Amino acid sequence: MRKQKFRKSRAVFISVCLLLCFLLGGCGSAKKEDAESGRESAGLVIGFSQLGSESAWRLGNTASMENAAREHGISLVVNNGMQKQENQIAAIRSFIAYQVDVIVFAPIVEEGWANVLQEAKEAGIPVIMMDRLINIKDSDLYDAYIGPDHYLEGVNAARFLMKKAEEMQAANDSAAEEESGKIRIAELSGTEGSSPMISRYKGFHDLIDNDDRFEILETVSGDFLRSKGRECMRSLLKKYPGQIDVLYSHNDAMTLGAIEVMEEQGIEPGKDIVIISVDGEQAAVDLLKEGKINCVVECSPMLGDAVMDLAEKIVSGQDYPRVTHPAEGCFTEYDDLSSLAPRGY
Ligand code: AHR
Repeated sequence: MRKQKFRKSRAVFISVCLLLCFLLGGCGSAKKEDAESGRESAGLVIGFSQLGSESAWRLGNTASMENAAREHGISLVVNNGMQKQENQIAAIRSFIAYQVDVIVFAPIVEEGWANVLQEAKEAGIPVIMMDRLINIKDSDLYDAYIGPDHYLEGVNAARFLMKKAEEMQAANDSAAEEESGKIRIAELSGTEGSSPMISRYKGFHDLIDNDDRFEILETVSGDFLRSKGRECMRSLLKKYPGQIDVLYSHNDAMTLGAIEVMEEQGIEPGKDIVIISVDGEQAAVDLLKEGKINCVVECSPMLGDAVMDLAEKIVSGQDYPRVTHPAEGCFTEYDDLSSLAPRGY
């Protein structure tokens, strides 16, 4: 009872401090919403460092965390890192200073987290990594990872292409394919050094590179952004006119940008160029149904509920899994998608 009371007043104290911090321009806080709605949580306080707001996926992920926290009666303090690792490190340090119960973060890149995680460990605050992984020698510096299996996503993209290739070679109607005898692939990759970029690349290349039906023309980074997807597609089409048979894009946002450019140039997406995308946002699934995308590998942002469960287990000393991957599928032009539920992001 006393513990509960202490938590309650600490949650309010931390929220006020972080709200002040927000008002002074230091960090944003979802707690502001709570303060506005007059809602007060009696439960845990979680500091959440979100890496940015670069895509519909990311916005869906933030919303999922906020909704789940509300349902669990958890105070969630959100900081948007605006695509900068230094902002995320500063946010984690402020969570340590305010002694939140748990820190959750979605690391923008894999490297460079050892010092700040060591500080969290010394402060006795458990850390959950969400969505993306880090590369670190001492894996005791975080408690658990919860998020997609990005390597499997790359493998799923390659598996679809291997199936599609049989059909493409039978049709054999691409001028480029006749010249080289190969199916030529352009790859739009995500943020350099981020775990989904590294793993989606690896999962795909582990299968495709040893298959002599395929040739990778080039891999360029579009930083998971629609605007850069547009830019990169424009320069790829200029550099390889009429030669691209397949676009493998590491996320839907970049895919949507690339499709705009194809259509501007009279190229039929999904027909002239086979398109494989990753995520599963509604706009991409709609284009899959229209035949403008051939395959969408699912990567679910709806992690909030599982993260809150995990945080509660860690804090209450229950057993918990070190790694949790949500079940994810793959939507393709070969599937009946008529009963697919709205994606919610
Ligand atoms: O880390 C997950 C990736 O990040 C999603 O594929 C992408 O849309 C987001 O920006």
